[in-house]
Amino acid sequence: MMAGIPTSKLLTLDAAHVQRFIEQIFHTAGWNAADSRIAADCLIGSDRAGHASHGIGLVPMYVDTIKAGRLKPEWTARVIKDDGPFVVIDGRRSLGQVGARDATLKGIETARQHGIALVNLIDSHHVGRIGHYGEMVAHAGYVGLFWVNVHGRKPTVVPFGAREPRFSTNPHCVAIPRQGADPFLLDFATAEMAVNKARVAHAKGEKVRHGTLLDHAGRPTDDPGVLWENPRGSIAAFGLHKGSGMAIVCELMSAALGSGPMVADQTEAGAILNNMMGIVIDPARMATGEEPIEAATDRMIDWVKSAAAADGVPEVLTPGEPEQLNRARLGTHLEIDPATWGEIEKAALSLGVSAEAIPHRLG
Ligand SMILES: NC(=O)c1ccc[n+]([C@@H]2O[C@H](COP(=O)([O-])OP(=O)(O)OC[C@H]3O[C@@H](n4cnc5c(N)ncnc54)[C@H](O)[C@@H]3O)[C@@H](O)[C@H]2O)c1
Repeated sequence: MMAGIPTSKLLTLDAAHVQRFIEQIFHTAGWNAADSRIAADCLIGSDRAGHASHGIGLVPMYVDTIKAGRLKPEWTARVIKDDGPFVVIDGRRSLGQVGARDATLKGIETARQHGIALVNLIDSHHVGRIGHYGEMVAHAGYVGLFWVNVHGRKPTVVPFGAREPRFSTNPHCVAIPRQGADPFLLDFATAEMAVNKARVAHAKGEKVRHGTLLDHAGRPTDDPGVLWENPRGSIAAFGLHKGSGMAIVCELMSAALGSGPMVADQTEAGAILNNMMGIVIDPARMATGEEPIEAATDRMIDWVKSAAAADGVPEVLTPGEPEQLNRARLGTHLEIDPATWGEIEKAALSLGVSAEAIPHRLG
């Protein structure tokens, strides 16, 4: 299952074909071939990892933002501080997947030189799934820590003890390398539920866990429809006061530290904007013993997985495994719900992408 949709109701497509199609959408909108490929690769990677909320389903919203003149191909990120391990890149609201990839590569290069890098991409357009950048860092043999805020639109997430929203789904990610295996990857939003996951439940007429969402008066509810009412409902921060505190940490680490915009600045840009703070660590520079971090991580994962599974749980999983299992299950395919696919087709055609570029459905 993906995002609560029974797999039998999903469309199956060839992932490589979809990749070319999504690239073509960005290219038709004016981005060069390399940047179009980077954006498509990140979005499809999110679907393949099982996070449709940050996958190609975002394309229609991106196209609307482009048409409104709030995301332009000529806008590019630029380095505004390069001082030893300290790097700040002004995203200048440019295509986030490109700015975040460049920032991550710069972080890896800086950590190679200094043992550690603090790389802060500020005021970028939406960067997508943060685990994508965590995986880049871990695959290069480094440890990555990321804090991200969301601004540019009205907040959706309610602080603990409040009844109106003050921040958004602010994600946090930790990636640790392993030898010959996909990394340990903890990558989550600090909200109880992604807006897109609520949208899916609402479309199917399903309820969500009581208290995940709040109605416009701040009363806990199980009705996902409150997010589409006027006045609008909101989402609870995850883990009571702990997740709420973590969401504030995401604001302070990603924005306050490198002088980017915080949600408190109420930027109201009519687009989803992110600041992303990454700390990249060379584990070899930290070690005092013989065992490399990859081996220690394997031992820790084996230890956790050796715990007897709870009733009804087939296997104890560790962070990163659900994404690996989803990719293995999909093979060369991609799954998407028909309504979202229809919106992507419509957005592509509206930009002038040829109907012949639309991938055939395999099932
Ligand atoms: N750019 C943005 O503005 C933005 C904002 C919010 C979220 N996001 C992205 O949205 C994506 C989804 O976030 P989410 O909070 O819905 O994710 P989620 O609730 O599915 O949690 C994902 C994390 O939990 C781990 N996990 C899941 N099931 C597990 C299990 N059974 N056992 C052990 N570990 C398990 C996963 O490996 C992963 O690390 C993330 O990739 C995040 O980066 C981006």
